[in-house]
Amino acid sequence: MKKSLFTILIFVLFSNFLWSKIIMQPYLQAVTDSSIAILVESDSPEPIEAKYSIASSSATQLTAKSQTYKVTDNSAKTYIHRIYLKNLASYSNYTYSVSDNTTKYQGKFITAPSDDSKDFTFAIMGDCRSQTKIHSKIADDIAQKEPNFSIYLGDLCFSPSYSAWKDEFFIPSELNLIANVPFANAIGNHEDSKPNTYAFTQSPDIANSEDLGYFDFYYGPIHFIILNTEVNISTNSKQYKFIKNALENSKGKFKIVAMHIPPYVAGGHGENGKLISISEKLFVPNKVDIVLAGDSHFYQHNLVNGIHHLIIAGGGAPLYTPKSKDYTLNSAKAYCYGIANYSNNALTLEVYDINNNLLDTIQIKK
Ligand SMILES: [Fe+2]
Repeated sequence: MKKSLFTILIFVLFSNFLWSKIIMQPYLQAVTDSSIAILVESDSPEPIEAKYSIASSSATQLTAKSQTYKVTDNSAKTYIHRIYLKNLASYSNYTYSVSDNTTKYQGKFITAPSDDSKDFTFAIMGDCRSQTKIHSKIADDIAQKEPNFSIYLGDLCFSPSYSAWKDEFFIPSELNLIANVPFANAIGNHEDSKPNTYAFTQSPDIANSEDLGYFDFYYGPIHFIILNTEVNISTNSKQYKFIKNALENSKGKFKIVAMHIPPYVAGGHGENGKLISISEKLFVPNKVDIVLAGDSHFYQHNLVNGIHHLIIAGGGAPLYTPKSKDYTLNSAKAYCYGIANYSNNALTLEVYDINNNLLDTIQIKK
C-alpha cells in the first residue's frame, strides 16, 4: 500500500514537471550592469530554468531557476515567472535559452555599462495600444535600430484585461523585440495599475517586494526615474517622497524622468497642474534634463525652465492634432518613436516617424 502511494506521488510530481508548458516567447526586463530578469509565462507554478552564457563559443554555460512568479487574472490561470540572472559582467553580450517539452526559446541581451565611458543606444515608445498594425511596424523599426534597452511610456494596450495585453501588446513583432531588448514601462491609464500590469512587468529593483509601479535605475551615466501617474503622486504622497529622495541623491550625469501623463502639452489631453507643480518643485531645482511622456497621441517637444519635455506617444493609438504654446519647439501629428544615443558625454535623441523620416534631434552635452 505504502509503495503504491509513493509511486502515485512520484507520478504526480513527474507529470506536473512534464506538463508545465511555456505559453509565450520569454522576454526581458530590469537590466542593470550586473543583472537582468527573464519573464516566462507558463501554465504552472513549477519553477522554470534558463541557460545563459557570455556570447562566445568557449564560454561556460550557466543555469538559473525562476525564484518568484506572479499570477495573471486570466480565467485559466497563467504564471509569469521571474528568472533573475545575477553576477553578470557589465557591458557584455549574453545569450540565453528557456525550454519546455516541445519548444526551445532563445534570446540575447547586453548588460548596462557601469560608468560613462561606453556608448549605448536606447529606444523610446509610447501608447502602442489599439492599432496593432502600426504598433507592429514601430516595433520592427525599433528592432532594426538595435537598441540596448527601451523606455516605454504607457498605454501598452487598451484595457487592463489579459486579452488586451495578449492581443495588443504581446504581438509577434513586440515579442521578437523584447526577447532581446529589455524594457521599462511608465504605467498608463489604459493598462492601469492593475494585476496584469504587475504580472507582466518587473522593476529593476528586484529586491523590493513592494512594487508600486515607480522606480529608478542607472544605465551608464543616466539616472532614469520611472513614475506611475495612475497612483497617488500628490505632494507628501509616498511617490512624491520617492521622487524627491531619488533626485536629491542622484549620482546621474544625466537625469531622465519618464511618466505617462505629461505636465506640459499643447493640444491632446492638455496640461496637468499637479504634474506641473512637481516639475517646478522637484524637476527644475534638481536639474532634470529630459521628461519623457505619452498620453497625447502625437510627437511634441516643449522646452520649459531649461527642461526638454518630450511627448512621444505615436506607438499606435489614434493620433490627435497637436497645438502650440509659447514653450513648444516642435510638433508632429505622426506615429513615431525615439532613438537616443549616448557617446562621450553627449546624449543625442532622434525622433522618427513610421516612414523613418527624422522629425527632431535633441542633443545635450555635459
Ligand atoms: Fe493615456
